[in-house]
Amino acid sequence: MKEIYLDNAATTRVAPQVAQKMLDTLVNNYGNPSSLHRLGIRAEQAIKEVRQLIADNLCCQSQEIYFTSGGTEGNNMIIQGVVENKKRNRMRIITSAIEHPSVLDVFTFYQNHQIEVIVLGVDTQGHIDQDQLKAAINEDTILVSIIGVNNELGTIQDLPAIGKIIKTVNPKCVFHVDFVQGFMKIPINVQTCLLDALTLSGHKIFGPKGVGAVYIKKGTDIKPLIRGGGQESNLRSGTENVPGIIGLGEAIRLRKDAFGDEFEAIRILRTAFINEVAAKIDGIKINGDPNGSPYVLNLSFNRVRGEVLLHSLESKGIFVSTGSACSSHKKEKQYVLKAIGLAEEYKEGTIRISFSQEITKDDVETAVEAIAQAVNSLRLLVKPRKNR
Ligand SMILES: Cc1ncc(COP(=O)(O)O)c(C=O)c1O
Repeated sequence: MKEIYLDNAATTRVAPQVAQKMLDTLVNNYGNPSSLHRLGIRAEQAIKEVRQLIADNLCCQSQEIYFTSGGTEGNNMIIQGVVENKKRNRMRIITSAIEHPSVLDVFTFYQNHQIEVIVLGVDTQGHIDQDQLKAAINEDTILVSIIGVNNELGTIQDLPAIGKIIKTVNPKCVFHVDFVQGFMKIPINVQTCLLDALTLSGHKIFGPKGVGAVYIKKGTDIKPLIRGGGQESNLRSGTENVPGIIGLGEAIRLRKDAFGDEFEAIRILRTAFINEVAAKIDGIKINGDPNGSPYVLNLSFNRVRGEVLLHSLESKGIFVSTGSACSSHKKEKQYVLKAIGLAEEYKEGTIRISFSQEITKDDVETAVEAIAQAVNSLRLLVKPRKNR
């Protein structure tokens, strides 16, 4: 049975070239980048090249890139780093209702610690309310953290417009974007978006798990979360994950066509998926913005439970998700769907399909056929509601 992996927003399979580079690094480029001898210098040089590569793709300077263990650490590092550095009597921090838990949980933590936390609402497609943002920023606002591409819906925020609003009202406020689902899929320029900080992660782009980076604009004051040997310009101590960083670099290099041919091919695939699903199944809803990231498709079916559908598809070798992998074990599972106001009858029956360039048109047809069969047979098991 051919496996059709449609959960690429949760994680991706490491590209063979990435794995090869990592293995080569583990065996041959094993020096500690802090060592003064040539093995250390070689390792340091290798991670310097990746730093530059990331900077080139974000349109910033290489000294503004710091390596991390991934998106969760990056988001924590920026949010906690800004708040802990300020420590004033009055502080306000702003985020949105559809953030990844690695942002939302940190905001909730601070809410319980006498910091004013504002959570912005979103419209039915998942765009933040810009008027609400404008009204929320004041001179006490030290940080606004917004998800650039939503992991469940694929909705892309208008970052240049959001940046302009923030900086017009309070130029000192730090603007951070969680760009884990956008990096090397959607082009970004941190200058035109007026960003002070950005988070990215390796495992969403065919790189290894447990490695990522943050951009922090020169002059932005951040208190380090991890202290020790002073690596990463004192902001993130610990011996660098050299094989991981080299793997991340190779994954970035392999995505050189991502913004052109691949983006368009994935967009066509996503449209074909939507058309076929709509032709075969009734009682569906496509959530998010039709012009959002083509890599993510969020679909709801009435009279079906998403989790049951997921396992039914799994038995046919098709892998999807019911939402964010990171939040699927948490109690408040459907806060993103709640925030966009999805009707109750659809909420329980939601799945997320997330594409990669490895998916073919045939895979789409096979997956849609399997979904149609599963939905139809699951619906037969559901008793019709009275008064429907
Ligand atoms: C939008 C977003 N932010 C942050 C993260 C966390 O990244 P990591 O798994 O590298 O910690 C994820 C992972 O699912 C994500 O989708």
